[in-house]
Amino acid sequence: MSEKSMLSSRFLFYIITISVFLLIVSSLFLLEFSNTSTISTKVLKLILVNNTSVYLKPSAKNEQAEVSSQPYVASQIEHKVRLEGQGEGFSFTDDGGNFISQKQQRTGACDPDQVSLKVFMYDLPPDFHFGLLGWKGYAGETWPNVKNPARIPTYPGGLNLQHSIEYWLTLDLLSSEIPDIHRPCTAIRVNNSSLAEIIFVPFFSSLSYNRHSKIHGKSKISVNSILQSKLVRYLTGQDEWKRMGGKNHIIVAHHPNSMLDARKKLGSAMFVLADFGRYPAGIANLEKDIIAPYKHVVRTIRGDASAPFSKRPILAYFQGAVYRKDGGAIRQELYYLLKDEKGVHFAFGSVQGNGIHKAGQGMASSKFCLNIAGDTPSSNRLFDAIVNHCVPVIISDEIELPFEDVLDYSEFCLFVRAADAVKKGFLINLLRGIKEDKWTKMWERLKEVARHFEFQYPSQPGDAVDMIWQAVSRKISSGRIKLHRENRYRRSRLFKGN
Ligand SMILES: *[C@@H]1O[C@H](CO)[C@@H](O)[C@H](O)[C@H]1NC(C)=O
Ligand SMILES: *[C@@H]1O[C@H](CO)[C@@H](O)[C@H](O)[C@H]1NC(C)=O
Ligand SMILES: *[C@@H]1O[C@H](CO)[C@@H](O)[C@H](O)[C@H]1NC(C)=O
Ligand SMILES: *[C@@H]1O[C@H](CO)[C@@H](O)[C@H](O)[C@H]1NC(C)=O
Repeated sequence: MSEKSMLSSRFLFYIITISVFLLIVSSLFLLEFSNTSTISTKVLKLILVNNTSVYLKPSAKNEQAEVSSQPYVASQIEHKVRLEGQGEGFSFTDDGGNFISQKQQRTGACDPDQVSLKVFMYDLPPDFHFGLLGWKGYAGETWPNVKNPARIPTYPGGLNLQHSIEYWLTLDLLSSEIPDIHRPCTAIRVNNSSLAEIIFVPFFSSLSYNRHSKIHGKSKISVNSILQSKLVRYLTGQDEWKRMGGKNHIIVAHHPNSMLDARKKLGSAMFVLADFGRYPAGIANLEKDIIAPYKHVVRTIRGDASAPFSKRPILAYFQGAVYRKDGGAIRQELYYLLKDEKGVHFAFGSVQGNGIHKAGQGMASSKFCLNIAGDTPSSNRLFDAIVNHCVPVIISDEIELPFEDVLDYSEFCLFVRAADAVKKGFLINLLRGIKEDKWTKMWERLKEVARHFEFQYPSQPGDAVDMIWQAVSRKISSGRIKLHRENRYRRSRLFKGN
């Protein structure tokens, strides 16, 4: 053998050794993330079951179809993820509000330069979040592993769920760190607060209110109050808070009574709320805060299973509690006006258990669903109606609606002023006067927008979680405009001396 050919065969040997080494490393990497991805499992099986030499022989037929040679493994996985994503409904069309950008169709981990919102999340002790769900991590563990959706601690069901926004947003931030989870690239968690646009406070305030407001035994103060005062002390002590007096923080307080003790002290932060009904205007307002939908409690109707005009025998549907104080007195007035009208289902009593299922059926068989102000301007009923494609009739003058800067609710809801609704015959004549073609237009629009009100894990493009992050991002931009406008003359003053 000549020296030259010996050299080249040696060279070849090294190349092969290095390639095999790289292959093993990359397969271990794949193993790490294989739980939730069918693609990487497939590739893994190929690697593990067959001996690795397969990859160095591009002539083998099977591999050419599946994975032609090692250097292409990564790019092919990416390609397949994209294809599967489209199959699962990742491919969507912009439905009029052009607020869904293409960059959200992700093909792997999010590119930090592409996301609109980098979020820093405090590592608060579990007592403030998943601990309230009964989750116990190992010593020193702050967050549950969210890689396997089946093993995530569940939020209590029933009516608790309607305010579970805190849970879905926190889960979404945690999942943004797991490359295998396909979710929109609107927001990601970052571990350096200086790089974040906003700082998220992971306190499950609604659950804390719902489950821990009672005072037990000898203690004079509830767990809910203790957590809030601890939170105030913690936040106001952070450099992140001091940097902008809390304005760069986001706090979820969806239940109208959550954060009752702390809301004034933390009022400079951006709140995620159901409405402003129980807040003074200085503490909560549309300029700085976000209105989030309730999580609906009835089952969603698929678009193709949704009954059209002629298959909805009930003209107007209402089921809810009676309120005699605040804005809620109108429910009783409407009850007397409507209870004997033909085609109207108007019943009192809050829904629980099987009642929720029945209410869902009732809405799915109704053309119009009444949303009448109760003890608060908003309620989950609106979102129950939307996912049942029952055209909402909103009789609540103070209601705030989620994402109203990008959604025109008049396309799929009717608005009736309370003062008009209580006029004899006004409401029933209005509803009877809406003919099939006009109703059907609203119904078609409802079927398009319903997905913006779905909370789910993992989050999907344009769902409620994604819409909330987008709204936060817009709110930050408008805050910046305000700041920059204020700076116009403030800066000039610095040069006055010249
Ligand atoms: C291993 O490779 C052979 C062909 O080389 C193929 O027929 C077989 O399906 C492969 N096994 C797996 C698990 O992919
Ligand atoms: C690995 O591949 C070689 C050559 O292709 C073959 O002779 C051997 O039987 C294979 N081993 C296993 C375990 O499949
Ligand atoms: C922060 O995140 C970066 C990448 O996003 C990572 O390289 C770094 O190790 C992380 N630091 C800590 C302290 O977790
Ligand atoms: C966080 O980011 C800032 C700005 O880029 C940098 O100066 C700082 O060193 C970073 N901190 C850590 C802990 O990485």
